[in-house]
Amino acid sequence: MKNSETYIGKIGSVTGSTLSIKLDEKIRSTLPIINGVLYRVGQIGSFIRVPFGYVDLFGVVTQTGSDAIPEKLAEQENVKGSRWIKAVLIGEKIGKKFERGVVQFPIADDHVHLVIKDDLEIIYGGFIEDKSIIVGQVSASESLSARLDIDRLINRHCAILGSTGSGKSNTVSIILEAIAERKDKAGNSIKSTRILLVDPHGEYGEILKEYSKIFKIGADSTKAESELIIPYWALPFQEFIKSFPGTISEKQEEYIREKVLHKKIEAAKKLTPAPTEEAITADSPIPFSIKQLWFDLIDIEQKTFNDTDLTDEALDESGAPETLKANKYTQASTNNTPPYSNRSAQGILGFLTLMRNRLLDQRFKFLYQLERLTPNLDGEIKGDLDSLIKNWIGTEKPITILDLSSIPSEVMGSISGTLLSIIYEFLYWGQNEDVGGRQTPILFVLEEAHNYLKSGENSIASRTVQKISKEGRKYGSGLLLVTQRPSELDDTVLSQCGSVIALRMTNSNDRGHIKSAVEDSLNELVELLPSLRTGEGLIMGECVKLPMRTKFSKARESKSTDPLVSEQWKNNLPDSSNYKKVLECWRNNKFS
Ligand SMILES: Nc1ncnc2c1ncn2[C@@H]1O[C@H](COP(=O)(O)OP(=O)(O)OP(=O)(O)O)[C@@H](O)[C@H]1O
Ligand SMILES: [Mg+2]
Repeated sequence: MKNSETYIGKIGSVTGSTLSIKLDEKIRSTLPIINGVLYRVGQIGSFIRVPFGYVDLFGVVTQTGSDAIPEKLAEQENVKGSRWIKAVLIGEKIGKKFERGVVQFPIADDHVHLVIKDDLEIIYGGFIEDKSIIVGQVSASESLSARLDIDRLINRHCAILGSTGSGKSNTVSIILEAIAERKDKAGNSIKSTRILLVDPHGEYGEILKEYSKIFKIGADSTKAESELIIPYWALPFQEFIKSFPGTISEKQEEYIREKVLHKKIEAAKKLTPAPTEEAITADSPIPFSIKQLWFDLIDIEQKTFNDTDLTDEALDESGAPETLKANKYTQASTNNTPPYSNRSAQGILGFLTLMRNRLLDQRFKFLYQLERLTPNLDGEIKGDLDSLIKNWIGTEKPITILDLSSIPSEVMGSISGTLLSIIYEFLYWGQNEDVGGRQTPILFVLEEAHNYLKSGENSIASRTVQKISKEGRKYGSGLLLVTQRPSELDDTVLSQCGSVIALRMTNSNDRGHIKSAVEDSLNELVELLPSLRTGEGLIMGECVKLPMRTKFSKARESKSTDPLVSEQWKNNLPDSSNYKKVLECWRNNKFS
């Protein structure tokens, strides 16, 4: 091919690695067709090529129009009429090999060329097939597949950012589907893929049905869903206490912590093998009876005595821990006569009453009423946590979906954080075993991450995700964060994401946060985001060699598909008996 076909203009000025390029007035069209392929000249995010001896330098277009005119020339009248683009140099091609970074720089008047498909194939190609996934097409050249390096995508964490309706969930589905469908070199399916998807709205079960095992509250067994349970006794103490309504002082909390620790130490003796006493804390995942704990605590608050030594109890009627019925005592007198109240009482009667209500609340069954994992009053259980964790992360299916749509919103953050924490602790302690994260890595996908990873919040979710973002790579744990509000997301977590997939983003404050997450020279590219189409995104960072404007493929239809309002409003009025049906669903915490 003749070089003249791709020629688009000359360099006007060079500042650092930024080039101002004056487009040639004689180029016939900004939409040339070369070898039957249509190209667009000077699109933000597209590439330019500068031949430089034996090497070809490549740059990405970051600005067009009057802003791209070099400052010194901007005042001149004849300059204003001409077309300029600004590009940042990002790599060079020697022979058929493309490398990131440039060591030599062009000078003014050097020729600039359009980048055609053959060049793009070299820039975006070079992936090893079974180590990469296809997620769509490169926008600049629709016949070119957009490939991501899966090792870098997962090891170095990734954030998917975009306004509501920009196509984030679709992008997640496409990425996960591509990973789940990977085959090895011989064409066999891959056995040990491990992905854990936290799904706050229950929107993935249907789309990823073939590849996933779904855990949810109120599971429908005809749909191969399993009941989601999270044993209260596996929660770190702070989260355990927070799972109850009502407030208590720090001193009262310490008091309960001591009691929980004591219960765990006693119950641990019944485990085989029993852990050593010194290793046990109130945070250890050791089963104990919460009913017995409640019974013991309330007994201390309510107990009265017939004598001043406080030995002869004024018991009227014995209660029963199993049914959460407290012992009944004769009311203490107020004028220093028997019965006397208990001096060890801590003033937590109100808290304990609310605690009892919560233990009986059917919405919290997933936490306190655990079937095989409910300890008896002595703390003995039939199953254990290992089988639960194996169900979560050790199934034949590559993806496990934790559908949290039925979890009461007040404990949502705490529960999703606890789940992550339980699994991450397991992977951490299993680092020398094949079930641990180092030998069988895992990808945590966190949808709507801004809901439970708010910046400045010291929640278990923030702490766990911060930990995974900083040290997860060493223990085989990768993150894929999805959010529409990057400005609300914890900064440390966002800055640890090696790759960013930015979809349409209209809010300038949010765009500012994306800028801080990508390398400086690409900052101006972020200004492109408001104009992206639905399902189109800019992939930047470790998982691609160069920033890649991509049109993501469309996953199959799902619940998150926008309703067709104009059509649906034409339907007849819904059946009135359905109002009753929905109320029933609501009361039972179940969808029809
Ligand atoms: N690549 C695509 N091609 C065609 N349509 C798409 C594409 N990506 C998304 N859509 C459509 O756009 C709509 C919104 O997509 P999606 O639910 O993925 O957005 P979202 O960013 O996750 O929104 P939200 O923030 O509300 O969760 C859906 O109807 C979806 O089918
Ligand atoms: Mg979504």
